[in-house]
Order: sequence, then structure tokens, then C-alpha cells
Amino acid sequence: MILTHRPRRLRVNQAIRSLVRETNLSVNDFVYPIFAVEGEKIKREIPSLVNNYHFSVDMLEAEIKEISELGIKAVLLFGVPDHKDAHGSEAYSENGIVQRAIKEIKRVNKEMLVITDVCMCQYTDHGHCGIIEDMYVNNDKSVDYIAKIALSHAKAGADMVAPSDMMDGRIGAMRDVLDSNGYTEVSIMAYSAKYASAFYGPFRAAANSTPQFGDRKTYQMDPGNSDEALREVELDIVEGADLVMVKPALAYLDVVRRIKDTYNIPIVAYNVSGEYAMIKAAAEKGWVDEKAIVLEKLTAMKRAGADLIITYHSKDAAKWIRG
Ligand code: PBG
Repeated sequence: MILTHRPRRLRVNQAIRSLVRETNLSVNDFVYPIFAVEGEKIKREIPSLVNNYHFSVDMLEAEIKEISELGIKAVLLFGVPDHKDAHGSEAYSENGIVQRAIKEIKRVNKEMLVITDVCMCQYTDHGHCGIIEDMYVNNDKSVDYIAKIALSHAKAGADMVAPSDMMDGRIGAMRDVLDSNGYTEVSIMAYSAKYASAFYGPFRAAANSTPQFGDRKTYQMDPGNSDEALREVELDIVEGADLVMVKPALAYLDVVRRIKDTYNIPIVAYNVSGEYAMIKAAAEKGWVDEKAIVLEKLTAMKRAGADLIITYHSKDAAKWIRG
């Protein structure tokens, strides 16, 4: 048979496939989440996030050295405080868990890029991402606190702050507060299109941040919407975001692609806890090939347009890529 086009010719062997591959993963794409807890000598596996741990500050050193050796250049830091109150005061305390963890990570490896999650839900007794008034999260009061938390992270040495609260106007407020205090070089990774998602379940167990009443649907986005994601991204860019994020990743890759096609700004995909836990559970049962499926889904996120991926698989993926 005479055929002008035989696309299979470019698939006949590994060498040619790798020459024409459009998307390649690199360890430079990964951001690794770290959970810091109060106490000493704690390295406790998080049951809902197999192979991820709660670390007390004194136990971070070994972990930071290990990930540095793997070539991972950035961490996303979460604090899990002991004390919670209505205003999440531990979140902006000079000596809070995140502030101490930032300093420790920088002491161990000053080159490690420290990105901090800026939110109140782990720190408030009601578990919502802001200040409650009349059983509703008050936007503007929450924004004041969120900007204050970001400033305290910058003072402790964070390189980048990542607000995950989904309040309106928080990027602009944060940029103002950071700049007026001299932190013009601290960048902002905006959780711009963050959906009210069931994929966060394992994280909430890990961070002890489940809302004590209601849900997050009055601030996080409706999974049915993607035009709205473009509006959220646009607002964040106008307010001064340096990077924009889509979260979760896997079920929202169409949103990543729409943002990529519309704006010219680095895009972050958050490969969230539920996406991780599903693969871990299936792999444990022997139902999927973990390495192959993880590399496939991370590649899909990049192919969709993500420039960076926050993932609990970072350490494994870094080892697999290195071979
Ligand atoms: C806090 C926050 C959440 C996640 C990151 N930051 C949970 C939530 O919004 O309820 C989820 C991360 C994950 O599932 O891996 N606002």
C-alpha cells in the first residue's frame, strides 16, 4: 500500500520518539509540599498522604537535605499549629510554626525557594479561610488578616507567598502591604482558580482544617465554571500576581489550557491530595503501575500548559526522571 503519511514512522523506536517528544518533565518543574507541626523529634507519616510526613522544626534538616540532593528547588510550606482561635492568630505570630520552619529551611539550604501557603483555615477554630461574621466569611476583614499573614511570612524569610483563601482583592492588598514594608522582591503565587473540590479531602485530614460548619462554596469556585476562572486569573494579574494557579489539576486541565492560551504568565498546577491518594491506594492494591501513571499524569499537566506542578509525588518523580 502506498501511503503518503505514516505517522507511525516517528514512533518506531525510543530514539526517534524522544527526538519528537513535545513535552518533557524536569525536576525543575516540581514544588514539594512540606507540613510543619509543633513539638520535637516528630517525623510522623500522614495516614491520608502515604509517604508524606508531619515534621517538627528540628526534624526538617534531614528532609531538606534529601530533597536538595534530589535537585528539588522549591517547597510549599504548610503549618499545622496546636493553637487555633477565631482570628487565626498563630498564622501571623512572629514565632508561629510556619515562621520558625521558614527560618530553619533557609538555615539548612539558603538556595531552597520557600513558598508559603497563606491561609487561615488551619489556624481558625471554625476551620474557614477567613474571619466569620454572622456565619459568613467576611471578605474585607479576611483580606486584612491575609495580608498581615503574608507580611509575617516575608519577615521570616519566605521567597514567595501563595494565598489559597479565594477572598476578593487579596492579591492587591498583599502586594501593597509587602511593598510598603520593603518586600518588593517577595513574589506572589495566586491560587487564582481554586475550586470547591472533594479532591482536598486527604489534605484536610493532614492539616486538620476541615470547616466546622458549612462548606467553602461561598469563596471557592464552582467546578462547573471555566469562563469564571479566566475572570479570576485576570483580576489576579491586574492586582499584581506573579504566577497564577489552577487547583485541583487533573480534573481541571481544560482550565489550565484556556489560561495558557489567553494570558502570558507562568501557570502552576496543584496536583492535590485526593489525586495523589487515589493513585497511592490503587498502586498499593497492584491495580496500576505507579511510576508509569504518575509520570503520565505529570506530563499531561505540563502538556496542558502548566509551567510548574505542586505535587506530593515530587521526590519519587525526581528519582524516576533521573533514572
Ligand atoms: C487551604 C488549602 C487547602 C489545600 C491547600 N491549601 C485545602 C482547602 O482549601 O480546603 C488543599 C491541598 C491538597 O488537597 O493537596 N486553604
